[in-house]
Amino acid sequence: MIIIEPSILSADPLSIGEQAEEVKRCGVDTIQVDVMDGHFVPNITFGPRLVRALHNRIKLKLDVHLMMNEPDRLIASLAAAGADQLIIHQEASPDLYRILQTIRGLHMKAGVALNPATSIEAVEEILELVDVIQVMTVNPGSGGQEFIQNELDKVRRLKKMLDEKNLRIPIAVDGGIDPQTAPLAAKAGARVLVAGSSIFNSNAPVADNIAALRASVNEILEE
Ligand code: DX5
Repeated sequence: MIIIEPSILSADPLSIGEQAEEVKRCGVDTIQVDVMDGHFVPNITFGPRLVRALHNRIKLKLDVHLMMNEPDRLIASLAAAGADQLIIHQEASPDLYRILQTIRGLHMKAGVALNPATSIEAVEEILELVDVIQVMTVNPGSGGQEFIQNELDKVRRLKKMLDEKNLRIPIAVDGGIDPQTAPLAAKAGARVLVAGSSIFNSNAPVADNIAALRASVNEILEE
């Protein structure tokens, strides 16, 4: 199965709740919430308060992508706010092993994200601690960027590494995902497609945009 996971970073900030409800009506069960601290990436976005508001209002799984230094500062408050999964960047802390243990200890799923410059070997020692590996297909920090084609080879090599270890950890891709790049990423081995501006935009309604993404990967599954 290939999962389309909307990233609300590209949603209209004045109607995030309504837009989250809109994607839920399209059969989406998980949305990604991008937390940026202005240091790890030059942008500042959301925090535990929005996660709690979404959790209380909409029964959607909340996958929180932490683009911040010292991510352990927010783990307990995000758990209390109702996050279902936390994705930590491999580059964010030398304490990654303990942080992933802490996340699972708080009954959340744990994921690790790799920036474009980070090799797949960097996660080899923590594979038993993660529920997803997210390959950044743009430089993290904003929506609407162009997909970095080189990351397709990284996804292929990561899939091969996981298969050789007989590990069924889903690979997610994040950044520049649209109906042209989604099938390329799925063919390379990605099973979670995080998409922002190709879903939330003024070109077409959210439902049509999600349908277009789904249609673009349907053939992949049949192959
Ligand atoms: C970027 C974020 C992405 C971003 C994706 O740092 O992690 O989730 O919102 O947006 P698009 O799909 O527009 O590249």
